Amino acid sequence: MHVSNVITSRVRELALLLLSGMLLHSCANDPSTLADGVPDAVIIPHNIGVGYTRNAALVEKQKLNETRTPDVIFVPTPYDVIERMLKMAKVKKDDLLYDLGCGDGRIVVTAAKGYGCKSVGFDIDPERVKESLENVKKNNVEHLVRIEQKDIFTLDLSEADVITLYLLRSLNAKLIPQLEKLRPGARIVSHDFDMRGVKPDESVTIISSEDDYEHDIFLWTTPLKKEEESDD
Ligand SMILES: C[S@@+](CC[C@H](N)C(=O)[O-])C[C@H]1O[C@@H](n2cnc3c(N)ncnc32)[C@H](O)[C@@H]1O
Repeated sequence: MHVSNVITSRVRELALLLLSGMLLHSCANDPSTLADGVPDAVIIPHNIGVGYTRNAALVEKQKLNETRTPDVIFVPTPYDVIERMLKMAKVKKDDLLYDLGCGDGRIVVTAAKGYGCKSVGFDIDPERVKESLENVKKNNVEHLVRIEQKDIFTLDLSEADVITLYLLRSLNAKLIPQLEKLRPGARIVSHDFDMRGVKPDESVTIISSEDDYEHDIFLWTTPLKKEEESDD
């Protein structure tokens, strides 16, 4: 991989981490997000640094909320990147595809429409689940696509043939114990982020015509090939 590509994906990872961190900070300080349930992950917080006095009830609500706060904010994968991810994963009609953190449902809808396969999108954020359901309905793929509000780290993935990811490198690595339960020959494709400690079978970098940026795509086939830990 070129140095410039590494820098681009690291910059994007840092941006996602930073925005997700800002979101958590904002939620912890803004009682309105505590009162209304799970906050909207796309809205960039406007009240960083504003302090509120919290009573015990609010602290309790915050605790509840924190267990449901997304680990990373919603940033959509461009459609041409999705097409390439699905092609790399060699998706077939009889595959079952899971998108872990499905955002607005664009990957599961594209897979169902393009390949006729069954797919399930999981997201922890109720707003994303609502958008995904609307997307599924708009594209008439209700017979192929299911959307579930779930924390991806609680899922049994063993039924899936293809897993798609657009999370963070650290979150991909956190999924390893679950991914190891996939049947041999299952495919995992990740937008922009590799998986610490696991060697990909293939990686490509493409420039999306939607944003003119370089996007990395990584493919792993199970069983996963563990490698020595690196320091980066
Ligand atoms: C970067 S977006 C990717 C969206 C979509 N997969 C795509 O590529 O367009 C990550 C998504 O993961 C969701 N998410 C974050 N942490 C999660 C968790 N622990 N369980 C389920 N979804 C989560 C976020 O709400 C967000 O919609």
